[in-house]
Amino acid sequence: TENTNVLFTIFGATGDLAKRKLYPSLFRLYKKGELSECFAVIGTARRPWSDAHYHEVVKESIASLEPTTEEADKFASHFYYQSHDVSDTSHYSVLKELTDNLNEKYQLGGNRLYYLAMSPRFFGTIVTQLKTSGMLNTDGYHRVIIEKPFGSDFTSANDLNNEINEVFAEKDIYRIDHYLGKEMVQNISAIRFTNNLFESMWNQRYIDNVQISLAENLGVEDRGGYYDQSGALKDMVQNHILQVLSLLAMEPPVAFTEEAIRSEKIKALKAVRLYSEEEVYTNFVRGQYTNGKLGDKEFTDYRNEPNVAKDSTTETFVAGKFLIDNFRWSGVPFYVRTGKRLTEKGTRINIVFKQVPINVFRSNTTEINDKSELPPNVLTIYIQPTEGFSMTLNGKEIGQGYATKPVKLDFRNTAEMVENSPEAYERLIFDALNGDSTNFTHWDEVAQSWRIVDRIRAAWDKQDPDFPNYAAGTMGPESAFELLQKDGFEWIWQPDEWYKERN
Ligand code: BG6
Repeated sequence: TENTNVLFTIFGATGDLAKRKLYPSLFRLYKKGELSECFAVIGTARRPWSDAHYHEVVKESIASLEPTTEEADKFASHFYYQSHDVSDTSHYSVLKELTDNLNEKYQLGGNRLYYLAMSPRFFGTIVTQLKTSGMLNTDGYHRVIIEKPFGSDFTSANDLNNEINEVFAEKDIYRIDHYLGKEMVQNISAIRFTNNLFESMWNQRYIDNVQISLAENLGVEDRGGYYDQSGALKDMVQNHILQVLSLLAMEPPVAFTEEAIRSEKIKALKAVRLYSEEEVYTNFVRGQYTNGKLGDKEFTDYRNEPNVAKDSTTETFVAGKFLIDNFRWSGVPFYVRTGKRLTEKGTRINIVFKQVPINVFRSNTTEINDKSELPPNVLTIYIQPTEGFSMTLNGKEIGQGYATKPVKLDFRNTAEMVENSPEAYERLIFDALNGDSTNFTHWDEVAQSWRIVDRIRAAWDKQDPDFPNYAAGTMGPESAFELLQKDGFEWIWQPDEWYKERN
């Protein structure tokens, strides 16, 4: 049997993620011929849906991809719905029966991919039940894809991991960080390891600071209940930001294999300084938005959002400085920031290079060491909403004299906007089907990320934040700007002309 002859079982089939990302991704793969005709999907959730209703939901979720009626019907016919209460053990025997029938019907060779896309408190129960009900006693592969959050701190993540390890081997556990499926996050390694220009300068001798911004203009939408328990630190820093940081900071792997990359990422994360309480207070700031305006739209306070506590002290913004204590990065601040209801959706990395030792073109009124007229070279990696990278250099103003001006070498993958890219999920599902876990997070990475973040959380828990402290539609609280100013730097946030022109 082929690898892609497979039974998907989705826990959380009626949820937002399934509808917005999973079904469209499966359809794209199907359309490209990446899924064989031999595949079936069992969708499970508590609600009592019929197969017919499930087919309608699936078709609706792929409508924007404009399939023909025939294509949509054919695709949806592979989907089966099973009402299922994950904590009721008797339900698993019903699920097993359906599983066995579909395995027969579609010739799936016992290949199974379980997708856990529901509240993480059920992850442990589900995997345990998969085993005890005998669903994993087949030839073929058994893999599990697990959505975030993987735990809510190191201890809970460790417990969850132990539970899953009782059932699945590490190589069959695919912990999703959908940022690793993004084109430009994958491109970080290509840019670094195929351009000697950059790699030879990718260290503390030439780089002044690194800036990672994951700005969102969205608020918490309908996820207030989850978000208010989590906050920006756990929602974005523990996973997406630290993953991006590890790709930027790691040593070149000997080959582009999952083992080699993982071991380099883990080494990089282990070199990230674990802060003392005092260091947390100097190096990290948090914020929560109050009402404000974005364009001509008015937004309410975070504390007024549905399912958010009226006196919530949950942060909707974080900015901080990570230090990486190794030879390559000693002394180079990695500034990170992320937040809800900021000015725009923009996911960017700026690598800010050190300036030239003296400015030979300085005007005769400035000191020999004054380089204020010379902006630093910056490599910007645009992750969203446009994809590409640019290099800011200095050149000469046309005409007489030697006035200099910044010039930009700018490249974009496509003129399209990529927002909330389902493509990321499509790639990751494709990888999981093919047994490639390079772009999933290994337990050691998750564990180390929690150790880093737990320090910050613990220090914060000892102080009452002065919230709210930034208006919706701004780039966060003053303290986020001061964080860089006190080191003599500033956030680099040039407008994305490509995006502006097309909107
Ligand atoms: C998710 C967070 O992991 O990432 C959300 O839970 C956030 O709060 C989202 O909005 C951002 O993803 P993207 O792909 O839109 O940048």
